[in-house]
Amino acid sequence: MLILGLETSCDETGVALYDAAALERGGAAADGLLAHVVHSQTDLHAAYGGVVPELASRDHVRRIVPLVREVLTRAGRHTEALGAVAYTEGPGLAGALLVGAAFGHALALAGGLPAIGIHHLEGHLLSPLLGRPAPAFPFAALLVSGGHTQLMRVDGVGRYRLLGETQDDAAGEAFDKTAKLLGLGYPGGPQLAALAERGRPGVFNFPRPMTERPGLDFSFSGLKTAVVVALRGRTLDDQTRADAALAFEEAVVDTLVMKSKRAIEATDARTLVVAGGVGANRRLRTRMLAMGERHGVRVAYPRPEFCTDNAAMIALLGHLRLSAGQRGDLAISARARWSMSELVPPAAGLQS
Ligand code: KG4
Ligand code: ZN
Repeated sequence: MLILGLETSCDETGVALYDAAALERGGAAADGLLAHVVHSQTDLHAAYGGVVPELASRDHVRRIVPLVREVLTRAGRHTEALGAVAYTEGPGLAGALLVGAAFGHALALAGGLPAIGIHHLEGHLLSPLLGRPAPAFPFAALLVSGGHTQLMRVDGVGRYRLLGETQDDAAGEAFDKTAKLLGLGYPGGPQLAALAERGRPGVFNFPRPMTERPGLDFSFSGLKTAVVVALRGRTLDDQTRADAALAFEEAVVDTLVMKSKRAIEATDARTLVVAGGVGANRRLRTRMLAMGERHGVRVAYPRPEFCTDNAAMIALLGHLRLSAGQRGDLAISARARWSMSELVPPAAGLQS
């Protein structure tokens, strides 16, 4: 069955075409993904220093039809071949979500197909399953995005246990805010990471928040303040900014690695999955892999392009939930706020 995935929760319009049967056939599309595209609105919002919701929704409206056409053309398929539509139902910007939800339902209605709403973070969480060999359940997971930093135990689709989470800023948010402070643009994570490449180790040293006491929770808001205090009275030349960026990145990465190690120990997991936008960070990937090697644990990441927002993860979840018996939704639903704790396994999620 071919599943069309749609992602419009924030400032990226994503469309993907997923073919579950391709897994059995093997070959180039062995991850099941026939084609995917992401259009980023970064330039549109850059002047405002953050995402402007109304501009985001309008741009999704402009892009979604051409992007669906492009994906179908790249995959050499027609809409008649589709078996289902999976769209991001939430959480995210209400207006942006509505574009994907309404378009997805319209397409599904026209073709007599099921449409299924997917939780954006569940998409991120299971996106490493797009890799080969796919990690097997159960595993420990670190979900690090712009809005979330959570450690979880994952026993199956919809079977998630929260082990710890941030008490204030998410790791990605800390990257973005610190980047702004260092005079970088939005989104700051990748730009701060690039600046850190030129930093000299040991010039600054920032705290590893909440690592000195037991537990799996995080707190990143204090780090940003530590950067402000350290830079006070200094000339913000390129080298100083790069030194601060490196020390900041080291502090965040160290903290994430230390807590992930604790999560592995607490759950006895043999696999750790790292997902979400910050999972694209090179230093984090390298350090986490080294930690996994030391402890005999497999560390699995999505490809960097599937760490940030994309529709491949939404199409994959559509497949996982529909093939496990969940039925499509009947109502067009966009949920700006939606806790992962409300998610249930596919069979329990049967809808009338
Ligand atoms: O998962 P994502 O695309 O969007 C959601 O929040 O759902 O994550 C975006 C976040 C942003 O805060 C961005 O700065 C951060 O991920 N990010 C990075 C890197 N690439 C993206 N942070 C650090 N290093 C990166 N290479
Ligand atoms: Zn995301």
